[in-house]
Amino acid sequence: MASASPKIPPLPLLRAIGRFRDGLAALHRRTTPGHIALLELQMTGFLSQAIGAAAELGIADALAEGPRQPGDLARAIGVDEDGLRRLMRLLISFEIFKQRRDGSYQLNGIAQALRSDTDVSLRNLFLFFGSEYHRSHWTHLADAVRTGKSVGPTLDGMEFFAYAAEHREIGEVFDRAMTSISSLATAPLLAAYDFGRYGTIVDIGGGHGSLLIDILHRQPSTRGIIFDLPEVVKELPQQLSSSGLTGRLTIETGSFFEAVPAGGDAYILKHILHDWSDEAAGRILRSVRAAMDAETRLLIIDIVMPAHRRPHPGKFIDLEMLVNTEGGRERTQDELGTLLSRSGFVLTRVIPTAAPDSIIEAHPAW
Ligand SMILES: C[S@@+](CC[C@H](N)C(=O)[O-])C[C@H]1O[C@@H](n2cnc3c(N)ncnc32)[C@H](O)[C@@H]1O
Repeated sequence: MASASPKIPPLPLLRAIGRFRDGLAALHRRTTPGHIALLELQMTGFLSQAIGAAAELGIADALAEGPRQPGDLARAIGVDEDGLRRLMRLLISFEIFKQRRDGSYQLNGIAQALRSDTDVSLRNLFLFFGSEYHRSHWTHLADAVRTGKSVGPTLDGMEFFAYAAEHREIGEVFDRAMTSISSLATAPLLAAYDFGRYGTIVDIGGGHGSLLIDILHRQPSTRGIIFDLPEVVKELPQQLSSSGLTGRLTIETGSFFEAVPAGGDAYILKHILHDWSDEAAGRILRSVRAAMDAETRLLIIDIVMPAHRRPHPGKFIDLEMLVNTEGGRERTQDELGTLLSRSGFVLTRVIPTAAPDSIIEAHPAW
C-alpha cells in the first residue's frame, strides 16, 4: 500500500522524549513498594494477551466507521457483551480505545494501529504474538535460559523457517506479522536513507516485499528483486499485479545459504541476521558477498543493541530470538562489525532511524 510520507520528528527530539518517558516510569517504580512495582510489571503480560484478543476479535475494524454502543459492537463481532465490556475496561484503562460519555466505544490514536487497513497496522503482528503457537513457546523461556539454547526447534522438531515452510498455517501468520512489523519501520527507514541512489536493489529474505515496494513507489528509476523461499513468495506475483510495479519488481526464489541473485547495486538484509547464530549469519553474508562487486553496498537493517540500561525493544526481541531461533540474537555495533569483517566486509556507517532499527552499511573488503 503506497502512502504519503508521514512527518518523522528529528531523532534527537525523539530520543529526549524517550529518556524523559523512561525516567518517569523509573521514578514510578522506585517510589512504589517493590512488590507492587513487580506485580504491576508482571501483569502487563495479561495486558499483552488482551491486546492480542482485541486483534483477533477485530474490534478496531468494527469501530472504523465510528463509535458503537457495547451491545451493538458485541453483536457485530459475535461475542458476549459482558465479556467484551470486561476486555474493553482493561484496554481503555491503558488508553487503548476510548469510551465516550454515552457509553459507546471509539477508536483513539493507539487503537488505530489495531485496524487491518491502516498504513501502519500492527494487527497481524499481534495475531502472531497472541497465537497459541507463539505463547506456548514463550512458556519455555526459563528452559532456554537454563540451556542457552532456543526451545522452538526442540518443540517443533526443526528450525523455525523449515517448520513454517511445512506448516503454512503458522508460516502465513508469521509472514503477515513480518509485513506488519515492517509497516512500522518503513517511513523511518525511507526518511533516514537515500535508497534512490541505487539502480537495482535486492531484498534478501524480503518476505512479502513491503519495504521494497515502498522504495520503488518513491524511486521511479530504481528496480527491485525480492528473494525468499518459494513457499513464502508463492502468492506474491498475483498480489503485485495491481501494484503498478510490474516490469520493475521481480521475484526470485532460493536459499540465502546457497546463492542469491546477482546484479544488485545494493543488497538488503532486513531482520535476517538476527534470526541466526554467528556461524549461520556468516554463511548468509558470504553467499551475499559472492554476488557483489567492489561498488555494491550491503544494507543490514536490524536493531543495534544499545549499551544503556534503559528499556529498549531490542531487549525484548533478543529474548524472542533466544526462545524461537537457532542461535539468533540482537547484536551490538561491535558484534555486527566483527561478524562483517569475518565474512569479508567493511562496516562503513551505522545510520540510526526513528524506528528501533538502524541501517548498517557495508561494502566488500577486497
Ligand atoms: C524475520 S523475516 C524478515 C522478512 C523481511 N525481510 C522483513 O523485514 O519483513 C525472515 C525472512 O527470511 C526468510 N528466509 C528464511 N530462511 C531463508 C532461506 N534459507 N533463504 C531465503 N530466505 C529465507 C523467511 O522466509 C522470512 O521472509
